Amino acid sequence: MLENDAEIISKINSLKKERQAVILVHNYQLGEIQDIADFVGDSLELSQKAALADTRVIVFCGVHFMAETASILCPDKTILLPDLSAGCPMANMVTAEELRQRKKELPDATVVSYVNTTAEVKAESEICCTSANAVRVVESLSNEKILFVPDKYLGHYVSTKTNKEFFLWPGFCPTHTRILPQHILELRKNYPEAKVVVHPECRPEVIALADEVLSTGGMCRYARRDDVSQMVVGTEIGIIYRLRKENPGKMFIPVSEQAICPNMKLITLEKVLRSLEEMSPEVKVAEDIHLKAKMAVDRMLEVA
Ligand code: 13P
Ligand code: SF4
Repeated sequence: MLENDAEIISKINSLKKERQAVILVHNYQLGEIQDIADFVGDSLELSQKAALADTRVIVFCGVHFMAETASILCPDKTILLPDLSAGCPMANMVTAEELRQRKKELPDATVVSYVNTTAEVKAESEICCTSANAVRVVESLSNEKILFVPDKYLGHYVSTKTNKEFFLWPGFCPTHTRILPQHILELRKNYPEAKVVVHPECRPEVIALADEVLSTGGMCRYARRDDVSQMVVGTEIGIIYRLRKENPGKMFIPVSEQAICPNMKLITLEKVLRSLEEMSPEVKVAEDIHLKAKMAVDRMLEVA
């Protein structure tokens, strides 16, 4: 650790106490950000932590929709996102207006939106889901027709696990689509003993070659199993830091070094410190959409 970093971390820790803040960090964040976290997790775990947080302030080290979900769940708290430009390109592939139009075409389908959406889109949805609970959420619904937004690959994966009729939005994650079947085939040859684990945002051809399809939190739990000593990891490479830190002696092989989410890497120690000093940038969901968006997120957390 650089001397400068140590100084920044010590300032972050004392300001965190002064401001009564908790630092929530997604599994894809840079290692030095994971190291200052009060909690590191996947989208579902982070929203559950936010909902239960007893601090006045949450510093969210992730992307915009995650901070927005925290604001939906905790409207009275100050939610800081240390870089406001950390967005999710997939979340921007559907707008509330586009969804309203599609709902008119499919009036008897239930809208399930991935949490990787804006608050406006959540407000147009019956229920949200994450990669960790998407199958359970869809199974919990009585309707047989599902309009799933925005990730066509997650939606397709869930459709293979249920008997419902799916209408998929044409969205996708630019980072996970960089993972290709040939990457997996090559690594299977080189590491025949390794378990191959991929995220459900991957292409169906990639999912077909995997041993397990898991959320990032699911991957962290799976890695702890006694029968896993080598793991090929098909998701954003930031998670490799946590997997290696928690499982010394085990081998973790990223499927592709190209699977980087540039938005996740925008959060730095300096920006975390500045956000606590200035209590900005803040993410706050507008009052007119807050209640409707909260219903969709709350319904998800009831299923969890
Ligand atoms: P998880 O909920 O599995 O952490 O995934 C979040 C995400 O953005 C995946 O790209
Ligand atoms: Fe969005 Fe993909 Fe980045 Fe996840 S990895 S935040 S889905 S762009």
